[in-house]
Amino acid sequence: MKQNFQTLRLASVSRHFTNAEGLPVAALKGLDLDVRRGEFIALLGPSGCGKSTALNCIAGLNALSEGAIWLDDARIDVLPPEKRGFGMVFQNYALFPHLSVLDNVGFGLKMRGLARRVVEQRARAALELVQLVGHERKLPGQLSGGQQQRVAIARAIVIEPPLVLMDEPLSNLDTKLRIEMRAEIRRIHGELDRSTIYVTHDQDEALSMADRIVVMREGTVQQIGTPRQVYERPANLHVARFIGYRNVVPFSLGTVVDGRATLKAGDIELRGTALGAVGPGMVSVAMRPDDFERSTEGGNCFRAEIETVEYGGRESLLKARAAFGSLYVRIAGDAAVGETLSLRISPDRALVYQQEAH
Ligand SMILES: Nc1ncnc2c1ncn2[C@@H]1O[C@H](COP(=O)(O)OP(=O)(O)OP(=O)(O)O)[C@@H](O)[C@H]1O
Ligand SMILES: [Mg+2]
Repeated sequence: MKQNFQTLRLASVSRHFTNAEGLPVAALKGLDLDVRRGEFIALLGPSGCGKSTALNCIAGLNALSEGAIWLDDARIDVLPPEKRGFGMVFQNYALFPHLSVLDNVGFGLKMRGLARRVVEQRARAALELVQLVGHERKLPGQLSGGQQQRVAIARAIVIEPPLVLMDEPLSNLDTKLRIEMRAEIRRIHGELDRSTIYVTHDQDEALSMADRIVVMREGTVQQIGTPRQVYERPANLHVARFIGYRNVVPFSLGTVVDGRATLKAGDIELRGTALGAVGPGMVSVAMRPDDFERSTEGGNCFRAEIETVEYGGRESLLKARAAFGSLYVRIAGDAAVGETLSLRISPDRALVYQQEAH
């Protein structure tokens, strides 16, 4: 397969499985996506939404039930995995325990029949890129989780693939290492000028790493956009919830003019932003805990009584009861249970959606 490309195109890629009862399960339903050269794409969604299925379809580990995959003008979904030549990093590393770090990384090159000297040279260069110089002769079992993860990345990139596929590569690591490795993976991606497709169920990971995020749910794409678009303008309530809009509150819709909505619940009136067609009648308003401020100025204020406080040092997460229901609110500093706050949310940050059917 060619070593570089302009566009990887997924056209209506679908995959069905058969479950234990012999019934078909649609794991992936008509995925359309163009990945450009150099792009870092995150596939984001809850467990079971089809992320690994999508990645395995691209890698060639799953056959497609429908659709096609193109690398520029070459159709590749008909090729076996080794002919596609993509680098793959699995969640469980899948290193060979009896081979040294250097031999693990060189394995793919050796299989391709390259001379021993070339294999070693390239494996050493890959280990340098993932900053594991000095560990060449160790066995995987003698390395930390993060170091093993780096070996897995080196092994995926040593074959100089046009595309690197990563399936939740950081989920076995502790929080500190995970955050360090995010930056490392971004750096390696940048140095290689290749494309990366990265599967995760962690919205922070997707937001901080990706150029574009593909949000999935039950085998279908909900939104494709930059981290900012997905974060600020979630396409629907599912995306909003998944990306951190923890408060979804019913309001009665008043008027909508140029996307500006008036909302009412009891004697509380708020203004919000409708991103699509909403109403009439009851709507759902999505608000992030971080988007409230303690204020009595500037309109869009309401009162809420603190029910619980989760102290977090610089900031606290509160559960507070307002006339329209309970809310999660993050504020700077500490607060006391029973205290009544005046809270404000900017009309831009109260997003109005059509209410879900129950
Ligand atoms: N080999 C298989 N046979 C039958 N069903 C499968 C198979 N692989 C996946 N599925 C089903 O397809 C759906 C999507 O699975 P997939 O592994 O792609 O999810 P995922 O988004 O990667 O989840 P996770 O975050 O838990 O890894 C699930 O409902 C799963 O049960
Ligand atoms: Mg998975």
